[in-house]
Amino acid sequence: MQYYPKELTDALELIWGEGMLSPGGPEKVADMLEGIDISGRRVLDIGSGLGGIDVLLAIKHGAAIVIGIDVEPQLIKSASNLAARKGLAGRVSFQLVTPGRLPFVDTSFDLVFSKDAMLHIANKLAVYSEVLRVLKPGGWFIAADWFWSEGAAESRIVRAWLRESQSNFAFTPPAAALQALIDAGFAEPTVTDLRHQLQKITREEVSLLKGPVGQKLVAILGKEIADSRLASAESRQAALDSGDLMPCYLRGRRPS
Ligand SMILES: C[S@@+](CC[C@H](N)C(=O)[O-])C[C@H]1O[C@@H](n2cnc3c(N)ncnc32)[C@H](O)[C@@H]1O
Repeated sequence: MQYYPKELTDALELIWGEGMLSPGGPEKVADMLEGIDISGRRVLDIGSGLGGIDVLLAIKHGAAIVIGIDVEPQLIKSASNLAARKGLAGRVSFQLVTPGRLPFVDTSFDLVFSKDAMLHIANKLAVYSEVLRVLKPGGWFIAADWFWSEGAAESRIVRAWLRESQSNFAFTPPAAALQALIDAGFAEPTVTDLRHQLQKITREEVSLLKGPVGQKLVAILGKEIADSRLASAESRQAALDSGDLMPCYLRGRRPS
C-alpha cells in the first residue's frame, strides 16, 4: 500500500518546497538541530521521503554521510535522483527498508534524525530501542513527531482530520513517548510541545492554499487535489486548535 503516491508528494512538494513532504522547511530543520554540530558526522534519517532534508543535512549542516531510509520504493528513487542532481551521490544515499529492525550494525551513527515520519510507527519503544542501538555512545536522537492527547481517538475533530488525511497514522500521547525514550535507555530524554509553532505554520498553509499556492496546485495538479489539500490542512488546523493533536520535538542521547 502506497501512502505517499506521486499525486500527493507532488502536491506536498509544491506546498513545502523541493524534496520536502512536511511543514517548516530549512528553518525547521535548523531549529531541530539547535545546539548540535553535525559537521563531519554520520547521520541516519528515518522516513526520508523525497530526500530534501537529507540534502540540507549535508549541504547546509555539513554532515559527512547521510543515509535516508524509507518504506516506499518510489520515494527512495526520487530521493536518490535528487541527491544525484545536487552532486551528492555517494555522500547522501537512500535505502528501502521494511518496518522493524534497522538494517545497520550497532553504533553506526553520530546522529539519528527523523522529521514527521515516526507518526507512522506504532511501537515507539521498539523503534527508539533500535535508534539507541545504532547510535554511537554520546550520539543524539533528534525527531519531530506528532502525538495526540489522551482520549483524542474519540474526538470528532480528530476523526474528521483522519478521514481527510487517509493515512496509517499511529499516535500516542507525548507522555508515553517520553516513557518509551526512558525505557529504551536514552539519557537526557526530552519531549517539547510545538503546538503553537505548528498552529502558526498551519494557519499560513491554509491561507497559501486559499491563495497563490492553491491556484498553482489547481493549475498543475487539478482542482480535486487542491481541494483535498485544503480540506486536510483545515481539519489538521482544527485538531491543533482543539489541543487533540500535539506535535513535539523529541531528543535523547545514547549514554557514553
Ligand atoms: C510526512 S513524510 C516525511 C518525509 C520527510 N521526513 C520530510 O519531512 O520531508 C513521512 C515519511 O515516513 C515514511 N515512513 C512511514 N513508515 C516508515 C517506517 N516504518 N520506516 C521508515 N519510514 C517510514 C513515509 O514513507 C514517508 O516518506
